Amino acid sequence: MKKIISLVLAALMVTSAFAAPKKKAGNVKVGVSMPTKDLQRWNQDGSNMKKSLEKQGYVVDLQYANNDIATQVSQVENMISTGCKVLVIASIDGSALKSVLAQAKTKKIPVIAYDRLIMNSDAVSYYATFDNYKVGVFQGQFLVDKLGLDKRTKANPAYMELFTGDSGDNNVNFFFGGAMDILTPYINKGVIVIKSGQKTKAQCATLNWSTEEAQKRMENLISSQGYGPTKQKLDAVYSSNDSCANGITNALVAAGYTADNFPLVTGQDCDITSTKNMIKGIQAMSVFKDTRTLASKVVEMVDALCKGTQPPINDNKTYNNGTGIIPSFLCEPVFATKENYKTLLIDSGYYTAKQLQ
Ligand code: BGC
Repeated sequence: MKKIISLVLAALMVTSAFAAPKKKAGNVKVGVSMPTKDLQRWNQDGSNMKKSLEKQGYVVDLQYANNDIATQVSQVENMISTGCKVLVIASIDGSALKSVLAQAKTKKIPVIAYDRLIMNSDAVSYYATFDNYKVGVFQGQFLVDKLGLDKRTKANPAYMELFTGDSGDNNVNFFFGGAMDILTPYINKGVIVIKSGQKTKAQCATLNWSTEEAQKRMENLISSQGYGPTKQKLDAVYSSNDSCANGITNALVAAGYTADNFPLVTGQDCDITSTKNMIKGIQAMSVFKDTRTLASKVVEMVDALCKGTQPPINDNKTYNNGTGIIPSFLCEPVFATKENYKTLLIDSGYYTAKQLQ
């Protein structure tokens, strides 16, 4: 009888061990600093991070800085002084956080750079992002293939203009750099003609990745170069992301272009406006970066830092922030067009079909 009772007890103990709730993170507070609410992707990133961290039991201080550097600095300062144990930061200007992060380092608060690398600060412990160089290569190679550049000559060139993002964002070096590594040989051969002559990163930059700024510059290019459906030919506009693509597209629509003769416009993020434009045939491609995957990797990093285990890393060579290589996790970007958006965005539950109507 005794034996049976102890067997039953043992069985109960095993079952309850399995049924025990997973160890929660208690009241550990994590600061999440996002650049702005103005661009759709950062809202998604912020809310994904908050939800996933809370699910693991963390308390989250999520702040958006309205694309204002001073606001971001003071929000991060506040996170440090109110007891955050880990900071996750998507910077507005990667070079503007050095002194506030020195305070984090003194307090031994680890910092994870989120999507954008934080430069010149030795307080940055880890970096999680997408393979940003690959994003640029996708965009550049798409233009080469679609415009049939390998079959063209100087006598039959493709006319193109170039747009990238904010020069304070280190990612720009990789997006624009990746695309230009592909496009430059064709520019040098005269197979791509940039009529404005604006080809440097500084000339092609867009303050704060702003749609309005991109629209203004495209309007200026249209009038200064005489682009139009029945005027000077324009075959493509390289854009590093969707917020700039949306401004470029607005200007091209206003200049009279329609889906039948629309220049190829590139992008990245698969934001809702751009995905709708792809469906309408007025943006040619985008790059899908599943922010759910990025958020879940960063949550793993936070969790590992709090538990003293090794955070996930898959790149130890690409991202030097000026103080040395920052161990990184690079998520995979995916090439997106009108042809595959349904599988990528709707079937995966990223958007509902209704959101794209
Ligand atoms: C991000 C892009 C985004 C851009 C503007 C970049 O740092 O990697 O996904 O489109 O910022 O918000």
